[in-house]
Amino acid sequence: MIPAAPQPQENQGAPEPRVDARLKVTGEARYAADIGLNHLAHAVLVTSDIARGEVKAISLHGARASPGVLDIISYGDIGELRKPRLSNSSYTSLGPLHQRTIYHDGQIIALVVADTLEAAERAASRVAVEYTQQPPSADFDSPGTTQMDAAGKVALLDEDPCVGDFDQAFHAAEVKIAADYTTPHQTHNPIELFSTTAVWSDDVLTVYEPTQSVYGFRGEIAHQLGMDVTKVRVISPYVGGGFGSKGPSTPRSALVALAAKRLGRPVRCVVSRAQAFTTQPYRAPTRHHIKLGASRAGKLQAYSHDAWELSSRVDNYAVGGTDTTTRIYACAAVASHVRLVKADRQTPAYMRSPPELPYMFALESALDELAYELGMDPVDLRLRNDTQRDPISGKPFSSRHLKECYEKGVQAFGWKKRNPLPRSMREGDWSIGLGCATAVYPTNVAVATARVRLESTGHVRVQSASHEIGTGIRTVAGQMAAEQLGVPLSAVTVEMGDTELPPAPVSGGSNSTASVCSAVLKACEKIRARLREAGSSAAPAVKDLPELFKQLGVGALEEYGEFVPEGAPADALQKLYEGQTTMVSGSERDQVMFAFGAEFVEVRVNVRTNEMRVPRLLGVFAAGRIMNTRTARSQLMGGLIWGMSAALHEATEIDPRHARIVNRDLQDYYIPVNADVAQVDVIMLPEVDTLVNPAGIKGLGELGNVGTNAAVANAVFHATGVRVRTLPIRLESLIQSH
Ligand code: MOS
Repeated sequence: MIPAAPQPQENQGAPEPRVDARLKVTGEARYAADIGLNHLAHAVLVTSDIARGEVKAISLHGARASPGVLDIISYGDIGELRKPRLSNSSYTSLGPLHQRTIYHDGQIIALVVADTLEAAERAASRVAVEYTQQPPSADFDSPGTTQMDAAGKVALLDEDPCVGDFDQAFHAAEVKIAADYTTPHQTHNPIELFSTTAVWSDDVLTVYEPTQSVYGFRGEIAHQLGMDVTKVRVISPYVGGGFGSKGPSTPRSALVALAAKRLGRPVRCVVSRAQAFTTQPYRAPTRHHIKLGASRAGKLQAYSHDAWELSSRVDNYAVGGTDTTTRIYACAAVASHVRLVKADRQTPAYMRSPPELPYMFALESALDELAYELGMDPVDLRLRNDTQRDPISGKPFSSRHLKECYEKGVQAFGWKKRNPLPRSMREGDWSIGLGCATAVYPTNVAVATARVRLESTGHVRVQSASHEIGTGIRTVAGQMAAEQLGVPLSAVTVEMGDTELPPAPVSGGSNSTASVCSAVLKACEKIRARLREAGSSAAPAVKDLPELFKQLGVGALEEYGEFVPEGAPADALQKLYEGQTTMVSGSERDQVMFAFGAEFVEVRVNVRTNEMRVPRLLGVFAAGRIMNTRTARSQLMGGLIWGMSAALHEATEIDPRHARIVNRDLQDYYIPVNADVAQVDVIMLPEVDTLVNPAGIKGLGELGNVGTNAAVANAVFHATGVRVRTLPIRLESLIQSH
């Protein structure tokens, strides 16, 4: 049963259905790889069978002789193609065909192009490769890995946040815990496969590609091809799931463009599900060592967070999640330290709630352990350490309603009926566990632009090169314009996903609704100012528009809005045009900006088989202005389910001998289905925050899946008395202690 969309409360927008819902459910929506093109050729990747070594010889004779083959690109055959640059717009600096060294499993070693997909696949299977192999370092504990400090060396972490004297405070604390936590390698598996379609017309290149950043993608592919950005157009019509994996470009795209140029015809490459596991980004496995010291009354006095993240040999990448975890609870002595462990693996990158999902698992699990140590309710422990000031910088939060989220959740979930003792609640063969955890996500805002046009008929067109990645942004950007200009949503058309449109930031870091709606708002304010010049009231009736336009001597009003967040450097707008997003994040301004939530989970564990079921998930969130209670609820529900999945299902398995991925398909890479979760409830508390951005929006695309993994693990402990500190929690995780 699909529950009704929640009725909006104060500062919440109407639950409008998505403007593209009908197109999507009828199959009319055209995704990048659906675009019909004449004379289209098909490309298939050939990838390495080893994780470390050299390609000694590669024989293309058999493949070239295969029927229908048009071209093969491999070593020594890439012309002037430049290597990618590690940045927000490219997840790696590895140019796979620039040298014969293999740095990771499934590295691209050739691109085969043929008349049909089938012919290309057959030919690709005839590429014969001889390797010189070296033993790879597969994982944290493998011999041959190297370790380095992350702070200052990676994009997302300038320094390890610290305050006070941790050692002294921990030593003096009355109650202490110390524990290690582990989260696995995870692979994004958006239902829409990754693809590139390249079309040349003279010296102008058009690329159809599902990307979360058309401008970022354009800047990077233009660099690799040695072209001026103005000669490249990137179109990302819809994105069938991205979750970070379609944020940065990958080396495949420039190779496809090169093939299309050589052949003089359009070329399309749709990456197979299996090859996506090794040619696209993933979430790095992480390890954490947490120490907490508290008073008997449950006041946190000392918190240290040591973390290790796996990365590749070629690039330094880490998410560095202590930037969030160290700011959540009042604590006078905080220490943190993030390290990279470099192994023979591909470079990881963003995956939904990149830092918060693994780091909050560790912190929120440790807090639950501390609550048992203190004999205190885990909700009470969190509320006792609630704060309106960031403990690291001392700055106030722009708004923070974590306490209200917990209070509402306690009541809605029936938390008071929970018997605090582990293994104390049972129904038949099922032991019942109830757990909770905090959700948090920084409010990131980015430089964004939009163009809005109001016709005399009352029709409105909104243009901004943002991306419909499934969040409903086309709908909410339309709602913002409709509200500002006093027209119904049905009178608004929203165009996105094309570098011909005014630039917008990467659709990542949950920034887009806040940033793009702020730019739309600014453009609409200019239109209203023009209408006021003609003597109109704030929102004129549509029937008065022709007369007003006549007075102004215009056929339509078109204005361009720029949103430059406070704290952004002066050249941020110029950089956006060139393809670089400037984001100002949660803790970088005078107020610390975060969205918060409280999550509650019921787990049932079969006492005979250890089978685990999740009958109930509840999240209560406060995330500033909610543009649309229907699309917001969908995002938060999806987040809760994914967070549950992070606890119980998902893991990319690595063969430690060969550093190769074992489960590269959706049969063996476990993801949840409807039967894996029964009831998912979302409550959105009304929250007004006038400081975050002009639109008052905090963003919530990633908030929902933060903390859920810990809430599940905490519920499993409550049900079984077994503390599982390594995700995912599987039947066998519970066996030893029974
Ligand atoms: Mo998100 S992982 O910032 O697309």
